[in-house]
Order: sequence, then C-alpha cells, then structure tokens
Amino acid sequence: MGNVVFQHVYKHYKGEPNPAVNDFHLEVADGEFLVMVGPSGCGKSTTLRMLAGLEDVSKGNIYIDGKFTNYVSPKDRDIAMVFQNYALYPNLSVYENMALGLQLRKVAKHEVELRVSRAAKMLEISHLLTKRPAQLSGGQKQRVALGRALVREPKAFLMDEPLSNLDAKLRAQTRAEIIKIHSQLQTTFVYVTHDQTEAMTMGTRIVVMRDGRIQQVAAPQILYDEPSNKFVASFIGSPQMNFIDGIIASHEDGFYFENRRLRLPLPKAYARHLQGMSQGLPNSRRQVVLGLRPEHVLCDADALQAEPYGEWQVQVTVAMKEPMGSDTYIHTDLGGTAIVSRADAHIPVRIGDTIKLVLRMDKVHLFERESGESLLLRGASV
Ligand SMILES: Nc1ncnc2c1ncn2[C@@H]1O[C@H](COP(=O)(O)OP(=O)(O)O)[C@@H](O)[C@H]1O
Ligand SMILES: [Mg+2]
Repeated sequence: MGNVVFQHVYKHYKGEPNPAVNDFHLEVADGEFLVMVGPSGCGKSTTLRMLAGLEDVSKGNIYIDGKFTNYVSPKDRDIAMVFQNYALYPNLSVYENMALGLQLRKVAKHEVELRVSRAAKMLEISHLLTKRPAQLSGGQKQRVALGRALVREPKAFLMDEPLSNLDAKLRAQTRAEIIKIHSQLQTTFVYVTHDQTEAMTMGTRIVVMRDGRIQQVAAPQILYDEPSNKFVASFIGSPQMNFIDGIIASHEDGFYFENRRLRLPLPKAYARHLQGMSQGLPNSRRQVVLGLRPEHVLCDADALQAEPYGEWQVQVTVAMKEPMGSDTYIHTDLGGTAIVSRADAHIPVRIGDTIKLVLRMDKVHLFERESGESLLLRGASV
C-alpha cells in the first residue's frame, strides 16, 4: 500500500519572487486521511500536483510507497486524482467515463465491469451508468469522478477541493460519503481544502499551510486545543478565536495579562511557560496576544453558574446578537476589543443590555505579539 514522503520539497515558479511551496517536509502514513488546509494561494494545490506528477519539484524528494518518485510520469505513479471541476468526458456515458482509465491500461473486460459496478454500488450511482454527464446534477457528476478514481484501486487518492462546486447540503452529504469510502478502503487519502470545517471533520491529521509553509501538523482536536501559533488559532474554529492585545506582567502573586482596560490573572500552571517574561524586560518584549475561544467566554445566565471563575468577570454591553438555532453568538466590546461568545440559544439578552462575561482564564492561549508563536507550546515538540 502507499505511504508518501515529502523531503524538504520546494516549488519555485519561474518569475515568482517567493517559492509557492517552501520546505514541505512530511510523512503521510499508509491508510491515513491527511488533509491540507489553508487560505487560497498558500500552496496546497501545488503540493498535491507535485505529488501527482503534474508539476515538477524544484528541490527536495518525493517518495511513494518507498519509491523515489520525482521523475516518474503521472500515469505510472499509481495514484488517482479527483478535481474540483470533475473533468468528465461529455460524450461518454457514466459507465464509459469510469471504465476508460482501466481500458487504456488493458484491464480485462470482465474485471472492468466488476470494478465499475462495485464502485457504482458504493457511490449509489448504479442507476446512472448509461447517462451522459450533461444529464447529471453537480453532486452526481462528482460521484462519477470519485467512481472513476475508485475503480483504479490506486495506492493513494489525491483530492483537490472536490466538494467546492456543490451546494452546502450536498457538500455535507458527499463529505460523509468520502469519509465512509476511506474507512472501507483504508487507502491513503491526501485531501486539499480551504474549508476548515471539511478539514476538521475529514482528516485523521491536518496540515495547516500559509504562504507555502507548513504551520502545524496535528490531529484535528489537537490543532483546535493547542494551536502552535496565532494563524492556526484564527484559521481553525468558527466563530473565530477572540484575540486581545496586552502584556504579561509578573506580580508577587503570579503572572497577569494586562492592558489599559483589563487585568486578568493567568493560571498558575502557565507560570513555567512565562518565566522569561519577567518584570525586568521592557514592555515591548512582553507584548502578547491573548486568545480565547467563543465557548470559553461565558455570558450572563451561563456565567452565573460558573462561580469558580468569578474573579475573571467583566461587565460589557451587548453590541450584536446572532441566533444560530443551536446556540447564539453574542458580540460585545471589551475595552476596545470586539469579543464573541457562544451562548445558550435562549439566552434572554438584547442589544444594548449590560451583561457579565466570565473569561475562562484556565483556557486562554497566549501568543507572542511579534512572531505569533504560542508561548504555552514554546519548546514543546510540535
Ligand atoms: N503555474 C503557476 N505559475 C506561477 N505561479 C503559480 C502557478 N500556479 C500557482 N502559482 C502561485 O503559487 C502559489 C500557490 O498556489 P496554489 O498551490 O494554487 O495555492 P492553493 O491551492 O493553496 O490556493 C500562489 O501564489 C499562486 O499564485
Ligand atoms: Mg488550490
């Protein structure tokens, strides 16, 4: 089966000042569902296309299944790729679209029939085999494209934003389908998306990229709970993590996060991470960004039950309310910083109300202002 190794891989496009992919170094285990996520232009497609052989590697090595692959032509890599735009042949039937790749490889006719009908069954498109692409919905076309990849029985599946052209409901449905297919096949999947929800729900491991560089590689929950920098923290999670600028101050009774409006005690457990940030340093060296997820900013009714966190209460005015059905996002202003908290759907507050916020200081993240690196993970192996 197929593991994939990237060794310090770079891609320089001619005439571009910066590399599109910068020192991509990663091993994808056999059978893993690896998701690459990041904003548009961060180098996801380029990385995937180098793995597929559709783009030359400028520097570094790629191995598939232990074999040095940089110069192997795409058709000899034994991988199947699924694109956003389906790329089906309009004049061929669904059956022919799925069978074509196998026929070109001279697979025996009965074997082709077997594989196509098996894949069609898996994707629930058996009733569409005689139709042409033009007669199919977007979701059905993408299933055919998936089917065409499945019949190849490749060492690895590469998918580049395959769900982007589908509407929200179909996207969620097809997402679940792909997860199911992966768990049945146990083949290596490398999946590219700009959508953090897709990344979180599909990946066994996620690579977050920015400007051609890997920011963090981790299982979804770890990425969410322990982002290694502010970029990852802001990219993963919806609504986004709240960020407040301030400095670290050390007092006799411990470390505090402070700015002109706030003075918040930091948990004792954080002390060892903050040792270098003592009072003697100039303010500029102690500048940080405090990060707190919306579910860790408790609002009013919720807040009242949270007695143990009483010392971290602040009064704020409700600026906006976003009812989501399952819960409500409350927007407030905390000393000049917009804060979002995830509150109960039925919370009885109105715009303009003064409410109490409880900041779960036991859940805060701290990032160095300048570099964005997490202070709490500093020195930890990522
Ligand atoms: N063929 C190309 N020639 C020059 N620059 C390219 C080419 N393809 C992509 N790029 C650039 O490389 C960077 C990464 O692009 P891409 O891999 O497509 O990002 P993503 O898939 O994450 O949106 C972008 O800055 C993009 O403009
Ligand atoms: Mg892309």
